[in-house]
Amino acid sequence: MSTPPSSPPRPLPPGAPPSTAPGGDGAGTAPAPAAAPATAAGTAAGTAPATRRAASTAGRLGQDTAYVATALPLALVSFTVLLVGLVLALGLLVTVLGLPVGAATLGAAVLLGDAERRRLELRGTPLGPLELAPVAGRGLRGVLQRLADPRRWAALLHGVGALVVALVTSPVLVAWWATALGGVTFWFWDRWLPQEPGTVTLVDLLDLPVTEAQLYALVGLVAALTLAPVTRACAALHAGWARLLLVGASRRALTARVAELGARGTSAAAAETQALRRLERDLHDGPQQRLVRLGMDLSVAERRLADDPDAARALLVEARRQTAETLAELRALSRGIAPPVLVDRGLEAAVVAVAGRCTVPVAVEAVLPDGRPAPAVEHAAYFVVCEALTNVAKHAGAATAAVRLGRTPAGRLRVEVHDDGVGGAAAAKGHGLAGLGDRVAGLGGTLEVRSPAGGPTVLVVELPWQV
Ligand SMILES: Nc1ncnc2c1ncn2[C@@H]1O[C@H](COP(=O)(O)OP(=O)(O)O)[C@@H](O)[C@H]1O
Ligand SMILES: [Mg+2]
Repeated sequence: MSTPPSSPPRPLPPGAPPSTAPGGDGAGTAPAPAAAPATAAGTAAGTAPATRRAASTAGRLGQDTAYVATALPLALVSFTVLLVGLVLALGLLVTVLGLPVGAATLGAAVLLGDAERRRLELRGTPLGPLELAPVAGRGLRGVLQRLADPRRWAALLHGVGALVVALVTSPVLVAWWATALGGVTFWFWDRWLPQEPGTVTLVDLLDLPVTEAQLYALVGLVAALTLAPVTRACAALHAGWARLLLVGASRRALTARVAELGARGTSAAAAETQALRRLERDLHDGPQQRLVRLGMDLSVAERRLADDPDAARALLVEARRQTAETLAELRALSRGIAPPVLVDRGLEAAVVAVAGRCTVPVAVEAVLPDGRPAPAVEHAAYFVVCEALTNVAKHAGAATAAVRLGRTPAGRLRVEVHDDGVGGAAAAKGHGLAGLGDRVAGLGGTLEVRSPAGGPTVLVVELPWQV
């Protein structure tokens, strides 16, 4: 395992002193043999970086040229697709179709923006991810959420404006490459040009003391020497436009996201505080009151034991019933805190146990992958099922209910609770569903209650697998 001591490169030859004392005579009397290897190394080190630099300049020129040359076709596609989409959306705005067409156009703008990001990655200048506002709703809500996202509009502006940038950079690129290649090789292909006697060339016109081939070679050389920086500038123009509208907008979005995460933390903390308060209240109202009564009953029974054993026995029977009830209540409360079956055997087992206790028959279907979600996520999912099934038992008047657990294609945990009851569930009416909403939002998930009057009721929760 140990590294051989000779492996690190040593700058000094073996005979040389390990270090030269500063200011000492040693500085002036460097050993003569050291000079030769040092010079040789110096020359080798001088040519190697030069070759490497030339190769990297050529590589970069190739990358920049490819990047700028492909910008025009992509910009043409972007411009056409996005403008047609936009005009179509505006035209259809009077009908219902305008909004989805507009949202689809923004979707295309995002895809094209992503293509630009990939192109920049290939060029070696990664742009960073496109941060878009999350779309939670489906149907019209999803469409409106997309339309309200300034980042999607920025992507659209990028796609349309890219054509203007490409119309500037493409001719410059073509002109520079043509001048460089054509000028430097003019002497070669000049002989095949038709030579009309009496043709006035540029050299004649300006009365220059050089031949035509020399002039074009000079111009070609200048173009060749400036080719790399000019191509680089063209590429930088495209990259700058992309950065301004794709990442600039994303960066602002990131700031907004930090704020959202802060709010999420606050709502999670609020949900926890609320849960604690409720637990405190439940303990106070339930088991504590029962235990107080139990104590009183027992002391009365103790006093009566001698003179009225029958009354005492009745009190003791009552006390035993109270004990059993208190125990059941405490069990129910502790299930609300952290059910051991959930911790030990996972979400599916815990949900099957809850479903078994429900007064309505509940079918449980679980299609979950092997690994378990984060504990906080399992916990929240479990509470969702508990609350939803309690609601089914309390309010729905349902004949059957079903719980489905699964994983979405996006890798989120999906919990569905269906019942065939009367419907009309709403978070605003009570605390249970609203509390669930806070808990789920605190983890970055979504809660949806579909419960038309007359039923059926479906509660859908999606939670990130990991938090
Ligand atoms: N599965 C359901 N079927 C019918 N109505 C429901 C259902 N779930 C909830 N509700 C209705 O929605 C209201 C809000 O529920 P919830 O927030 O859990 O409050 P709580 O259960 O404390 O009343 C309930 O009071 C009830 O009227
Ligand atoms: Mg409830």
